[in-house]
Amino acid sequence: MSSFKLFYAFAISSIVAVIASAPLGCIPARAQTKPADTSKMPWSNKALSPDERADMVLAQMTLDEKLQMVHGTGWGVLRAGAPIPARSNFGAGFMAGIDRLGIPDINLADSAVGIRMAAYQGRYATLLPSTLGAASSWDPDAAFLYGSVLGRELRAHGFNMSIGGGVNITRDPRNGRNFEYAGEDPLLAGTMTGNVERGVLSEHVMNDIKHYALNDQETGRNVVNILLDKKAMRESDLLAFEIAIAIADPSGVMCSYNLVESHYACENDYLLNQVLKKDFKFKGFVLSDWGATHSTVQSALSGLDQDMPGDDNYFSDPLKKAVQDGQVPEARLNDMVHRILRSMFAAGVVDDPPVRTVVDPFRGRDDAQHIAEESIVLLKNSGGILPLKTASTSIALIGSHADIGVLSGGGSAQVDAPGGNAANPQPGGSHWGETVYFPSSPLKNIQAKSPHAAVRYSSGDDVAAAVQLAKSSALAIVFANQPLHEDMDATSLALPGNQNALIDAVAAANPNTIVVLETGGPVSMPWIDHVKGVVEMWYPGIGGAQALANILFGDVNPSGKLPASFAKNDEQLPHPAIPGLEGATTPSARHHKVKPFDLTYTEGAKVGYKWFEATNTQPLFPFGFGLSYTTYAYSGLTVDDANRTVHFTVRNTGACEGTEIAEVYVALPSAAKENYKRLAAWQRVKLAPGQSREVTLPLHPLTLNVFNTDQNGWQLLPGDYTVTAGPSSSDTPLKATLHIHP
Ligand code: BGC
Repeated sequence: MSSFKLFYAFAISSIVAVIASAPLGCIPARAQTKPADTSKMPWSNKALSPDERADMVLAQMTLDEKLQMVHGTGWGVLRAGAPIPARSNFGAGFMAGIDRLGIPDINLADSAVGIRMAAYQGRYATLLPSTLGAASSWDPDAAFLYGSVLGRELRAHGFNMSIGGGVNITRDPRNGRNFEYAGEDPLLAGTMTGNVERGVLSEHVMNDIKHYALNDQETGRNVVNILLDKKAMRESDLLAFEIAIAIADPSGVMCSYNLVESHYACENDYLLNQVLKKDFKFKGFVLSDWGATHSTVQSALSGLDQDMPGDDNYFSDPLKKAVQDGQVPEARLNDMVHRILRSMFAAGVVDDPPVRTVVDPFRGRDDAQHIAEESIVLLKNSGGILPLKTASTSIALIGSHADIGVLSGGGSAQVDAPGGNAANPQPGGSHWGETVYFPSSPLKNIQAKSPHAAVRYSSGDDVAAAVQLAKSSALAIVFANQPLHEDMDATSLALPGNQNALIDAVAAANPNTIVVLETGGPVSMPWIDHVKGVVEMWYPGIGGAQALANILFGDVNPSGKLPASFAKNDEQLPHPAIPGLEGATTPSARHHKVKPFDLTYTEGAKVGYKWFEATNTQPLFPFGFGLSYTTYAYSGLTVDDANRTVHFTVRNTGACEGTEIAEVYVALPSAAKENYKRLAAWQRVKLAPGQSREVTLPLHPLTLNVFNTDQNGWQLLPGDYTVTAGPSSSDTPLKATLHIHP
C-alpha cells in the first residue's frame, strides 16, 4: 500500500459506515421505477464489480439511450415556467433512466448544508451547521456524521444523488460561498469535505465534489479567467480536491463556471482529462455546474461527461451529430456513460434505491447540535467572562433576531426553515437572496440555562434602546450577523450595516459585553479591544441555539478552531478589493453584472496563513486558533524519519475536561524556496483535568512534497524539514527536524 493510501486507512479506520436499509412498508420514491424482471438481468449480479456491471449495460444500449444519460432535462423547479419531467423528484436536476435495462433515473438535490427546496413538496430537511463551521471541528467523524445526515434525509425524500461537497479553498475570505466550503488549508478542507461525502455515500446516495476548480469568488464567476501556474494550483486549490476525492470516491465532480488559464472549467482538458481523470484517477463522471457548458465537441473531448441542467442541448442532438460525424469518437460517449453507470452501481442506487419515509427531525436536530457544539470557536475570553454563571441576574441580548432564531446561508445551499423564515414568515419556501432565520432561539435557550435571570432582547435597530438595555443589565451579548449567499461576495470584511457601531456603543455602556458572531466567513473586528468575549458560531444549524447555550454556560467546553485566518482588515489580504467588483453595477456584485476579466492569483499557493507568514504580518486571529475553558501544555516532540510520523504529548493543565486540537506543521527544506509552513497533521485529543496523552501522527505525504511541473508529479525533496506542533498556526512551541535522505 502506498504511503498516501496508508494515510487514509489510518485516518478513517475509526469510522464505521452505517448503511441504511429500506424500512418495511414504506412507499417507494416517485421516481424509481424498475422493470419487474430486473433481477434476471446479468448486471444485477452484485458479485460483479461496478465497472463490469456498467460494461454489460452499456453493451445493450442504443445510441439514443446513451445520449439520454449524458444530459439533464432542464431547469425544472429551479426556474419558473420550466417544464418539470413527470418522474422528477423536484430537485435541482434530473436525468431520465433507461427502464428497459433497469437503470433508474438520477434525481439530484442540492444538499450542501441540508436538502434544498424541501418546502416545494412540504417536506422537512435538517439544517446542519455551515460546512465551514463543521470544518472548525477538525473532526473527520463529525464530517462523516454530517454527510450521513444528508444521505439519510435525501433517501427519505426520494433522491439518489447529492450535489454538495464544495471544497474550494478560502482564497478570498469575502467569497460569498465560503460557508459552503471548508476553509483555507488543502489538507483540512480536503479531509473534512471528503469525509462529509463519504458519509453521503454510506447511505447509498451518489455523492459529489464541487466546484472544480478555482471558483474562489462569486464576483464575475461566469466570466473571470483565473491565471495561476500549475505548481501553485496543484499545491493549493487542486490539492484540496485531490485529497477530498481520494477520501470520498465521489460519483460526480461538478466543474465550475469560471475559466482557468483561458479555458472554461467545463471544457478544460488540463483540469478534467489530465489532472482529474488521469492524475487523480477519478472514476466517476464530470457534470457541469448549471449552465457552465459552452460547447459540444470541445467539452466532450476535454472530459465533460454530463451537461446540466441540460436545456442548452449541447449534449443532445448536437452530440449525436458529432458522434455520427466522427468529431467525437463513440468510445468517448461510451466512456461518459460508463462513468455514470459505474457510479450508480458503486453507490448502490441500482441495488438499493431510496425509499420515501418521514425524515426524523429530532435525530437530525441532535446530530446538527452535536456538530455545532464541536464547531463553535471561542476567540476571546478576557477575565474568564465565560462560561457564564447561572446565577447572573440580568442578561441583555441584542441584535440578529436572537429572540427567535439563528441565521442560515443562502443561494443553492439554502434550506427551507420549518414554519418558514423565523424572521419573516411567508407562505411557501425561501426566495433567492432572502436572509433566512431558523427557529432555534438563543433567548429561550439562554433563559432555560439561567431561569432566575431577566433575559431581555433588543433588536439593535434602535442603538439608543440597545444601549439602554445593556446599561440596565449585568451582561450584554450582541449577536452580529453576516448574511451571505451564492452569486455575491461580501464587499469587505466589515460586518454589514451599523453592527460595528452597535457593538461599540453597547461595549461602552456595559463592560461585560460578549459578541456572538453568525458569519459565513471571516470578518474584521475593529471593536475587539472593547469587548470581553467573542464567540464565532458561524451559521450554526437547527440545533444552533442549544449548542450556543451549552457553550456559553460551560456544559460543553469549546474545542473548535478556525479553519481560515481572520485578517485585521481588507488591506492585509493579497487582493485588498474583490477583483472585478469595481465592474459590478450592484453592491451585491451579482455574477452576471460584470465584464470578462483576468484574475492573476499573484499570491500563488500562499493562501491564508501561508500568506500571513510569508509577508510577516499578524492577522487578527490566526488559522487553527481557538480557546477553551481549560488550558493545555505540549511537550516531547520526536520525529520518526523512516515512517514520517511525529510523536508528542498533550496535557490538560486546567480544571475541566476538554478536547484539544493539536496541530502539526512542516516547513520544507530550503530547496523548496518556500517561506511558509504547511499543515501536515492534527489530532483531536480529549483530556480530563491533569490528564496527559501521547499522540503519534503520520505526516500527510502530499504535504511533504512539492509539485514538479516538468515531471508532472509530486517530488519529495531531500533535506531537513522543520516540524512544529502546537495549538495554532502561530503558536507552535514544539520543534524538531525530519531528515529525508536522497
Ligand atoms: C451552483 C451549484 C448548484 C447548481 C444547481 C449553481 O448555480 O453553483 O452549486 O449545485 O446551481 O442548483
